[in-house]
Amino acid sequence: MHFGFIKDVSADAGRLVVGLDIGTTKVCAVVAEISFNDPDRSASSRNGCGLNIVGTGTSPSEGIKKGVVTNIESAVESVRCAVREAEASSGVEIRAVHAGITGSHVTSFSSSGVIAVKEREIGRKEVDSVIDAAKAVAIPFDREILHVLPVGYTVDGQNGITDPRGMGGVRLETDVRILTGAATSINNMIRSCEKAGLEVSETIFQPLASAEAVLTEDEKNLGVAIIDIGGGTTDVALFKDGNICHSSVLALGGNNFTKDAAIGLRIPTAEAESLKKRYGCSMISLVRDDDQIEIGSDAKSGKSIPRSYLVEILQPRAEEMFSLIKNEITGRGYHKYLNSGVVLTGGASLMEGIDVMAEHMLELPVRIGYPEGPGGMTHKTCDPAYSTGIGLALFGARETMSGQAMFESRKFSGFSARMKELVGGLFK
Ligand SMILES: Nc1ncnc2c1ncn2[C@@H]1O[C@H](COP(=O)(O)OP(=O)(O)OP(=O)(O)O)[C@@H](O)[C@H]1O
Ligand SMILES: [Mg+2]
Repeated sequence: MHFGFIKDVSADAGRLVVGLDIGTTKVCAVVAEISFNDPDRSASSRNGCGLNIVGTGTSPSEGIKKGVVTNIESAVESVRCAVREAEASSGVEIRAVHAGITGSHVTSFSSSGVIAVKEREIGRKEVDSVIDAAKAVAIPFDREILHVLPVGYTVDGQNGITDPRGMGGVRLETDVRILTGAATSINNMIRSCEKAGLEVSETIFQPLASAEAVLTEDEKNLGVAIIDIGGGTTDVALFKDGNICHSSVLALGGNNFTKDAAIGLRIPTAEAESLKKRYGCSMISLVRDDDQIEIGSDAKSGKSIPRSYLVEILQPRAEEMFSLIKNEITGRGYHKYLNSGVVLTGGASLMEGIDVMAEHMLELPVRIGYPEGPGGMTHKTCDPAYSTGIGLALFGARETMSGQAMFESRKFSGFSARMKELVGGLFK
């Protein structure tokens, strides 16, 4: 049964949010319902959000390379397929989505702003004004701001303030991290959604979404790196004192392992992909000498080879990947802040031994991050490849529940504004 999105959500005092992760290997749509009446029902205590996954849809991704659209018609078709499947599994007609953005075109820099406080008390208006002041920097015409993330506030010289609302003072300052992306890449992603008949409520930098699904608040406060190893990109985001302090996207991912295996073993890409998933390992020292694997699809061409042949191909790629990641962490002086270590997520984090390799190369404790939080998680969604999709839904839900942005990000008119009106009404 299909019913109208807005009509349905207002009927049962629940709200629906849809996270759309347009990845290099798969497009995934996650439909989640926010519960307002009973915040404890299926609530993620970690994210403070009553959220239930009511449906998902996945489709192999075509027309996307290294996080950016390379063929719009194919990308549109992939989005349509994933959304259709999510509609069928949730019984909801999807009209608007929170879409993820990634790619090495996304970069970040720090900025700061200051304003004089005219009222006796600092309120929402003053916070908005100081963020606007921090945002007043010249951005090249071919780039767009994705997020303005406040890192902290200073009131009359007292720094380290996380929320200045309700405080008195005459001078309000803020430090922010501004994330920008190439306007063309962002607009092509949005166009792909629009051509598939969807409205984009908001674009969200994918590592922020993945962090929402796999990191705890404690880890973000103590200092942690989240590394999302997808098919075409590896997204690195560093958090300390609860805020993102650095991010970068490397144009390298799980598909590079597959390609290396296909070339090295002279087998088709599809076979290399399945061999990698079944027998892949990132460290030769973890493989037994007598382990044998079968390659070749038929009895004539098929043969048995030592598993170490495959792993000898994969290990140098893993080393290359973690040496690039090390440059982003140690090379920039962030190593000492990462008291909670490193969390690996994304589909390629499932490769055997990747956590051992990461620990060895980065000299930090490492865990694999599985998405957690919402109720209704199935075996399928409890997979690191779903961290971004689930995180996008959580991200949208958190904003919708609080009736305001967690922090300023690129928003779109229409649906988002309508949602806020509805939600605002409930909180009066
Ligand atoms: N068990 C496994 N072992 C090794 N690699 C795996 C395993 N399962 C999935 N992968 C790899 O994970 C990658 C896909 O991960 P994911 O679904 O997170 O990517 P994506 O979100 O589509 O891409 P991106 O984030 O780069 O845009 C593929 O390269 C796939 O081969
Ligand atoms: Mg991804």
